[in-house]
Amino acid sequence: MNWLEGKCALITGAARGIGFAFAQAYAREGARVVIADIDKEAAQKAAETLGSAATAVAMDVSDQRSVTEGVDAAVDAMGRIDVLINNAAIFSAAPIVDIEPADFQRVFAINVAGTLFALQAVARHMIARGGGGKIINIASQAGRRGEPLVAVYCASKAAVISLTQSAGLDLIKHGINVNAISPGVVDGDHWDGVDAFFAKLENKAPGQKKNEVGEGVPFGRMGTADDLTGMAVFLASDEADYIVAQTYNVDGGQWMS
Ligand SMILES: NC(=O)c1ccc[n+]([C@@H]2O[C@H](COP(=O)([O-])OP(=O)(O)OC[C@H]3O[C@@H](n4cnc5c(N)ncnc54)[C@H](O)[C@@H]3O)[C@@H](O)[C@H]2O)c1
Repeated sequence: MNWLEGKCALITGAARGIGFAFAQAYAREGARVVIADIDKEAAQKAAETLGSAATAVAMDVSDQRSVTEGVDAAVDAMGRIDVLINNAAIFSAAPIVDIEPADFQRVFAINVAGTLFALQAVARHMIARGGGGKIINIASQAGRRGEPLVAVYCASKAAVISLTQSAGLDLIKHGINVNAISPGVVDGDHWDGVDAFFAKLENKAPGQKKNEVGEGVPFGRMGTADDLTGMAVFLASDEADYIVAQTYNVDGGQWMS
């Protein structure tokens, strides 16, 4: 069964990591995919690996004009957008008293305003075209609770969960389902950076923080990007039509522990 046969999806931050795993899974399920990323070259390379199922567009989600142009380019390439995954985000960490205003502004510009800008641009397209659609925001277990050294990122992901609720309630009258996925800890480039941060801050050996974190997940290991794709496929499918404004934990039980 191809869950997404005939659907067209735009995925932000899909040149690598979790976003690229979503693009691969969507292509496997029969969708055509636009890989939108600030790193145009990496996006093009990623799209090439998916052949005719994928195309790349340059997009900086923190820049509203770039988002609008990227969404227009995606519609030109595919004719329509049925699914948006708001995946692009950056991480930051610092003790509360050391947080720089520029760091706060950059994280919120990408993780929060970027999510809103892409959501708005795609929702406008879906409303004008009619027939509804699916919007999936990528939140985080970091948005479910504060963490001592990760205040800004946690706050940005809490805002993504809140935006999902408001947009979900507002847009369902147009047949647009807005929901979110809340991953736990997912191995990859992102977590390599987190590991390096804690190695420096807590004087740990490289890889030590990752091992500790993985052992603390009830499932028994860190997640992989592929652990998230089932939920992303399901939420984009017609089977999820009655699901509105929800955020689903896909985290090996971490949030419950
Ligand atoms: N990795 C984890 O442990 C984890 C856990 C919870 C949630 N998440 C969330 O999952 C999503 C993907 O995470 P990942 O681990 O794959 O991250 P990643 O850093 O590996 O990839 C992020 C991608 O976003 C792109 N990007 C960055 N800024 C951008 C911008 N302004 N405009 C467009 N693209 C931009 C990057 O070029 C990159 O391709 C993020 O929303 C992240 O917060 C990750």
